[in-house]
Amino acid sequence: MQPRFQLSRRALVLGAVAVTTGISIRTAMAADDPTTPRHIGIIGAGQVGGTLGRLWARAGYPVMFSSRHPDQLQITLAEAGPNAHAGSVAQAIAFANVIVLAVPYKAEPEIAAQYGAALSGKILIDADNAYAFRDGALANEAHAEGVARYSAHLFPQTHFVRAFNSVNASSLANGGGGNTQILYSYTDNAAGDVASELIKATGSVPVRGHEL
Ligand SMILES: NC(=O)c1ccc[n+]([C@@H]2O[C@H](COP(=O)([O-])OP(=O)(O)OC[C@H]3O[C@@H](n4cnc5c(N)ncnc54)[C@H](OP(=O)(O)O)[C@@H]3O)[C@@H](O)[C@H]2O)c1
Repeated sequence: MQPRFQLSRRALVLGAVAVTTGISIRTAMAADDPTTPRHIGIIGAGQVGGTLGRLWARAGYPVMFSSRHPDQLQITLAEAGPNAHAGSVAQAIAFANVIVLAVPYKAEPEIAAQYGAALSGKILIDADNAYAFRDGALANEAHAEGVARYSAHLFPQTHFVRAFNSVNASSLANGGGGNTQILYSYTDNAAGDVASELIKATGSVPVRGHEL
């Protein structure tokens, strides 16, 4: 009896959220449910985020690009085609059940503080690298723990995946001719499976790494 009660209560909560926020129930459903269509939100639409979003939009996935300056994303949007949208970071998170983080590493704590609650329950694919010359002391701290684990701890309420960080954005552009290998590590298997699906959709080859 208890599980049935929890399920119907969850459905009620999702329905209420959908009515009050305008987010469709389909988008609000568990991101790691294999039957849920992927909606992808990109935080940071530069070399990595722009390239990945273009590939997924062209492959048929609904994509919303975002940055701190969404008004400057018109070229990326035009190149990505009709499945692509642009918005604020908050809008991209609300739109999507899979979020890609492609920003300078030093922005991660600030994004976690500002959007951690909104990211709750979503799959977060983190492509970021930490460099001391760009990201300062935070990079050293992250490397001391392991960058993937450090980021996973910044976003504990997400289904966290680290992927795309070890490949140059230009190699992602055409799936490297179909033989670019993309290593991914993950906090849970279901999120790993979604990452694998999305890596394949870019034309690259997923390589399963370790559980975080
Ligand atoms: N380039 C590569 O080949 C490559 C490969 C693997 C991994 N990476 C890693 O991937 C990450 C992104 O690299 P990139 O080369 O794509 O960088 P990029 O071209 O400079 O793009 C960074 C994007 O992040 C946005 N941004 C910066 N701070 C933000 C914040 N606080 N909130 C929201 N958006 C923010 C920027 O837009 P606004 O300034 O308008 O907000 C921009 O769209 C980095 O951590 C990098 O080390 C890069």
